[in-house]
Amino acid sequence: MSNRVVLVTGAARGLGAAVARRFLDAGYRVALGDIAVDAAQALARELSSDGSRAFAIRLDVTSKADFEAARDAMLERWGAIDALVNNAGASKIVPVMDITAEQFDQVIDVNLRSVLFGCQVFGQHFATKGAGRIVNIASLAGQNGGSATGAHYAAAKGGALTLTKVFARDLGPLGVTVNAISPGPLDLAIVHETVPAEKLEKIIAGIPVGRLGSATHIADVAVLLASPDAYFTNGACWDINGGLFMR
Ligand SMILES: NC(=O)c1ccc[n+]([C@@H]2O[C@H](COP(=O)([O-])OP(=O)(O)OC[C@H]3O[C@@H](n4cnc5c(N)ncnc54)[C@H](O)[C@@H]3O)[C@@H](O)[C@H]2O)c1
Repeated sequence: MSNRVVLVTGAARGLGAAVARRFLDAGYRVALGDIAVDAAQALARELSSDGSRAFAIRLDVTSKADFEAARDAMLERWGAIDALVNNAGASKIVPVMDITAEQFDQVIDVNLRSVLFGCQVFGQHFATKGAGRIVNIASLAGQNGGSATGAHYAAAKGGALTLTKVFARDLGPLGVTVNAISPGPLDLAIVHETVPAEKLEKIIAGIPVGRLGSATHIADVAVLLASPDAYFTNGACWDINGGLFMR
């Protein structure tokens, strides 16, 4: 995978940071896109002190223009792009009956509009060159409605799974695959920060493997789906949830 190039959105922390690290380990050059640009920059410097293998881009995934600017910055720096991981996401735990129009739009924008614009901008670029890989980070919540997340988040993730299929169908003939990964609850800071300890214990007790998921493993699967050999996996959703949801 030497010198392949990937953009990971929401790469400043959490799962996105794990994904960025694993792509780097696999030989990729990695652009880290995030609104938290200082944290993304700090991680990029840690991964590549001279910036030759990693750099940070200020990218708000709700903005199509930001995706276009990220694409252009990567092409200017490295001359090619091979893969996109649409990872950035955010949620607020609000009872479904209390979700306001503003909250709904905000959560839909970060989790779903982001996938639309990422796939449009990078899908178009990949289609023009006849090769590319897109991996969308969805969620178990998008499949089962969620247990510790908001309904707007679950609905957005369900929409991300549908967009994955639409782009996979349209871009597949042009050499571009689009797939999703749906993780269950991961052993990450955000989960411990947002889910009360007692509730988290109950969630873990309900997971057949009896523990939270590994972000590194999700990252490894993203690297696998981005490989040139992965051309026959298209429009798929890979469930990684410890057996919490089987179909
Ligand atoms: N943590 C879990 O258990 C879990 C489970 C299933 C799916 N996911 C998904 O994994 C992805 C990463 O989640 P995480 O747990 O690492 O969350 P996190 O909150 O720790 O990290 C999210 C990152 O996205 C960035 N971000 C937020 N809004 C952005 C925007 N508008 N533009 C660009 N960047 C933005 C944040 O700055 C942050 O760096 C999300 O799509 C999430 O829905 C997480």
